[in-house]
Amino acid sequence: MSKIVVGMIGLGTVGQGVVRLISGCKNLVLKKVAVANLTKAREGQLPGSCQLTDDVSSLLNDPEIEILIEVMGGEKPALDYLLQAIEKRKHIITANKEVLAKHGPTLFEKARSKGVDIFFEAAVAGGLPLISTIHKGLEANEISSVVGIMNGTTNYILSQMTEKGIGFDVALADAQKQGFAEADPTADVDGHDVSYKLSILSALAYGRFAQPTSIYKESIRTLHFDDIKIAAELGYAIKLIGITKSKDGELDVLVAPMLVPKNHVLAAVSLSNNGILVNGSAVGEIVMVGPGAGQMPTASAIVGDTINLANAMQLPDFASYFQPEIETEWATVKEATTWRSPYYLRLIVNDTPGVIGHIGTIFGAHNISIRSLIQKDTKKDEASIVIVTHEVKKADMDQALSKLQKSDFLKELGAALHIFTPESNHA
Ligand SMILES: NC(=O)c1ccc[n+]([C@@H]2O[C@H](COP(=O)([O-])OP(=O)(O)OC[C@H]3O[C@@H](n4cnc5c(N)ncnc54)[C@H](OP(=O)(O)O)[C@@H]3O)[C@@H](O)[C@H]2O)c1
Repeated sequence: MSKIVVGMIGLGTVGQGVVRLISGCKNLVLKKVAVANLTKAREGQLPGSCQLTDDVSSLLNDPEIEILIEVMGGEKPALDYLLQAIEKRKHIITANKEVLAKHGPTLFEKARSKGVDIFFEAAVAGGLPLISTIHKGLEANEISSVVGIMNGTTNYILSQMTEKGIGFDVALADAQKQGFAEADPTADVDGHDVSYKLSILSALAYGRFAQPTSIYKESIRTLHFDDIKIAAELGYAIKLIGITKSKDGELDVLVAPMLVPKNHVLAAVSLSNNGILVNGSAVGEIVMVGPGAGQMPTASAIVGDTINLANAMQLPDFASYFQPEIETEWATVKEATTWRSPYYLRLIVNDTPGVIGHIGTIFGAHNISIRSLIQKDTKKDEASIVIVTHEVKKADMDQALSKLQKSDFLKELGAALHIFTPESNHA
């Protein structure tokens, strides 16, 4: 078997893991690694003949390099580097969910036109072989949904809040100290990271990327420990859930913290693990649980892709076999206002007679049926009311909450969270 020459952009957390694993692969030669700052102190050693450079063009213009591993991250200049590499007919292996989600149609179209492959197992669910499972293992199936916990950082934060009884800020600071969260946690806690993954999963499962801006996102920043505690009493765990479902050529794609019944498999996915459910027409529902990020799990996905690609490169005309059929148009994503689910609400109200009746009247006018209502604490002249509803359309709940917020008896809307039910769907 002839040796395949590889170049890599990025030698950070993931890149260093890739170097460790790839050094043991006999038929792969890592020739050049590009970084931003050559003077930075680095742990570990590059293989003897490998050059470290800050000149990315020296990789892109090296005709010996047939595979480019991109583990630098971010939208730009990664996009330009990937497009240049594809133009030079280099195959791509990337962990970069942001660039794929935002520019997937352009990148895959260009790769198709140049007869090269883009491998991206590491871009979603880190060490879990989710991409290859959907792409190849479930090829005989029509996929109807991919649902689950797709961000290890937020799952770690929520697990710590639950187990230690701490608030969001303390749990975030702890996650940052432990290396599970970035200094700027926005992409994770506000749902952007999951939206990128949902975009990619939509492309793989249904043939079109979902534009990340079209994906409805709710943050976990405003989650209160009281709600985690009350949810537990009611038999739920709170998890950040990503959903992409296909129905009649349109997609439901959203990410939000949701109450998950404790007897559901996702409720038990703890710490920085991911848990993903895929529904296929023939196989039914399959579940994958495990490390969704981290140096070696992510490197495992990257180097696994590299080995598969290098093996395939020994065969003629292999490229189209590996390239998923992805259309150049963006998917049609339904408005989140049509999403239907039961709700958990916590309202801080004036402790005066008639309040419950007012709430019932507002809910009745918006087709909201209450499943249970509990008065939790009463302090001085205010009361905390926890309501669980039957399934309701988001637009109806939004309107009812807006009316409640204008009423003179509501002091604070403590929480309004979706309750996850496997059958949650649009109207
Ligand atoms: N970390 C994870 O657990 C994980 C999991 C799944 C996917 N990913 C994805 O993997 C990718 C890399 O993540 P990471 O955590 O390894 O990032 P990281 O630790 O920040 O490393 C980024 C690397 O890219 C280099 N770099 C940045 N800009 C560059 C430029 N313009 N030219 C050349 N090199 C440049 C940096 O160089 P310097 O070293 O000189 O700064 C650094 O070596 C991202 O797309 C991320 O989303 C990460």
